[in-house]
Amino acid sequence: MVPRYPDTRFVNLDSLTYAGNLMNLAPIEQAENYFFARGDIADREKVRALFQEHAFSTVVHFAAESHVDRSVRAPLSFVHTNVLGTATLLEEARAAWNADDFGTGAYRFHHVSTDEVYGSLGPEGFFSETTPYDPRSPYSASKASADHFARAWAQTYGLPVVISNCSNNYGPRQFPEKLIPLIIVRAMQENEIPIYGAGDHVRDWLYVEDHCEALETILMSGVDGETYGVGGEACRTNLEIAHDVLDCVDRALGRSEGASRALVSFAPDRPGHDYRYAMDVSKVRRELGWRPRRDLTQGIEATVAWYLEHETWLEQATDETWRQWYREQYAAPA
Ligand code: DAU
Repeated sequence: MVPRYPDTRFVNLDSLTYAGNLMNLAPIEQAENYFFARGDIADREKVRALFQEHAFSTVVHFAAESHVDRSVRAPLSFVHTNVLGTATLLEEARAAWNADDFGTGAYRFHHVSTDEVYGSLGPEGFFSETTPYDPRSPYSASKASADHFARAWAQTYGLPVVISNCSNNYGPRQFPEKLIPLIIVRAMQENEIPIYGAGDHVRDWLYVEDHCEALETILMSGVDGETYGVGGEACRTNLEIAHDVLDCVDRALGRSEGASRALVSFAPDRPGHDYRYAMDVSKVRRELGWRPRRDLTQGIEATVAWYLEHETWLEQATDETWRQWYREQYAAPA
């Protein structure tokens, strides 16, 4: 959006934890309408100072600890960022914004969330905006909590909030802890690929650019107080997706057909592993005209090609020494 909205100033607040990577923003780094601020969304003074400096009219809140396995090992950082961080952003928006202008379109707080708040589906059916919340991991509990806070600020104070709940994202530049980049990277290195349980868990895969288009649509045209489910309409078992990705890597690297499938290694299941996610996107399609445009085969091909062409990105993104040095270049002022 930075080049397409030259009259809008964009301020990116990011704490640059392990998955944050400013290389991803290189194409816009020099743009005159783009500003980077390093900081924690739960740091109230920092957030307040940014509201004072920039007089934001809009907050799009993507900042989150997002990896379920990490939340199982270290849950409290998820509570800090996802719960306290969200409440801090909501409260500082409320403090900065003029309540007399709520409901006039002067402001918008878009909270970006996940379909995991709805829990785990059986073999049939879909999540929708009216599915009761049933989070089952520390990660999804923290996102569910954040959603409740966003609705509470809308209900209690009239803050103009919209919420979107998306399915599993994939695509270029994703930190290789998530399933699809993990498969690609490990296949490139000919390492074992751990598939939890029997590989029969199902996810609904959403290409990142489709998600970005949905977010822009919801931000621009969504209705205050509403929630929109966003999904890829591309459900696959983990074993199916692993095979699709591995076959694509084989084609791209000229390996013999099916060779990399041998790298799949069944691993002990994730504790509390949600069985199936599938998002019904009919509301956002009907009311705002959005639908996912990339099919899964195209999306996987584009993703595999991107990782194969960006080995330097990969080395740097996964090298802690380099990342530490890079973070220091952007150290927050004392
Ligand atoms: O539904 C949206 C959610 O999708 C987001 O809110 C989360 O931030 C995001 O992490 C993702 O959650 P998942 O747990 O579904 O994503 P992940 O890539 O970790 O795992 C996808 C599936 O693959 C899941 O069933 C677990 C399985 N898996 C994952 C890893 C990392 C494996 O079998 N082996 C693995 O090594």
